Amino acid sequence: MRELRSICLGILLVLGAFRLTISHEDQPLSKIAIHKAVFALDDNAYIKASPSILGMKGQNSDWLTVEYNSPNPSVGDWIGVFSPSNFSSSTCPAENPRVYPPLLCSAPIKFQYANYSSPQYKSTGKGSLKLQLINQRSDFSFVLFTNGLLNPKVVAVSNKVTFTNPNAPVYPRLAQGKVWNEMTVTWTSGYGINEAEPFVEWGPKGGDRTYSPAGTLTFGRGSMCGAPARTVGWRDPGYIHTGFLRELWPNAMYTYKLGHRLFNGTYIWSSEYQFKASPYPGQDSLQQVIIFGDMGKDEADGSNEYNNFQRGSLNTTRQLIQDLKNIDIVFHIGDICYANGYISQWDQFTAQIEPIASTVPYMIASGNHERDWPGTGSFYGNMDSGGECGTPRTMACSDFV
Ligand SMILES: [Fe+2]
Repeated sequence: MRELRSICLGILLVLGAFRLTISHEDQPLSKIAIHKAVFALDDNAYIKASPSILGMKGQNSDWLTVEYNSPNPSVGDWIGVFSPSNFSSSTCPAENPRVYPPLLCSAPIKFQYANYSSPQYKSTGKGSLKLQLINQRSDFSFVLFTNGLLNPKVVAVSNKVTFTNPNAPVYPRLAQGKVWNEMTVTWTSGYGINEAEPFVEWGPKGGDRTYSPAGTLTFGRGSMCGAPARTVGWRDPGYIHTGFLRELWPNAMYTYKLGHRLFNGTYIWSSEYQFKASPYPGQDSLQQVIIFGDMGKDEADGSNEYNNFQRGSLNTTRQLIQDLKNIDIVFHIGDICYANGYISQWDQFTAQIEPIASTVPYMIASGNHERDWPGTGSFYGNMDSGGECGTPRTMACSDFV
């Protein structure tokens, strides 16, 4: 028995070591040497995206079609999605005066190979892609590149695409407050404190409404600790708001909406969400708690060639959504979305978990992929956070530690 036990332990250790080596792969966007990109625009090539307005029904996630044509197609051709749509070097400072161009200084928010859904692309030069975009406070453009990911050349640039209101309040995530009868709601928008007052309209389901003010936070490129978060991975995080819903009644259902009162008197609203308040401490009840780490994020349209473990993140998310009626609280204990310094990925993660995090408290803590950076006080002195050093994870939720 003891021998069997040690054999099992041995197998587990081997599996554990194997898992470690495959589960800490690089962020897929880091495979692109965007700072080496050069312009090689071809008048006979084109790329266009339609529709050019997304979210016409008020939704914050939408699909579009990108069609492209190149007179010199090759298997290494790829499509990069940029947001904001103006991705030229005029939008960011040079890292140092000796480095030039760079003609492009921001990584795309996602990418896909030109032949992904058009196997005939290499012979015909014609192709199309269906892509899913989320509302991320800015417009989008699509770029056809040739010459692979390591020495990319810009062949054609598309029209611009935008959501109806890019600044809209989006992706609410709940967290259990400091006391049992308090819930916090965190969300993202494009409205700063000089434009609007953020608040939560809420109350018992079917009952009177209350208005609670929300705070507003943001962070700048300068608070990142290194590359790529400070360089090609940087993207403006917008504004992160948190409201506090207090003196909740035990076990009661509440509904809530996110609001912004613009200083011209206009109100901007999110859709309506709901949650169930915590039980009274010690009350006889069954609480079902989900605890996990290392989930990651993935793209439903197949872009970014994610590693297998991140592919699994969509399955995990879908399963949690399916089981949501049986879940009271979620603890995501670290290694949240593996943005690894590509800040755009945080919005995409909060969009992915929205059905869960808007309905039950979604508590997070930092893992090495959010926090670690040499010389910044992290427990390990490695570079696993890609220069984030713990700041962008505030985009996700309130911490529980
Ligand atoms: Fe991990």
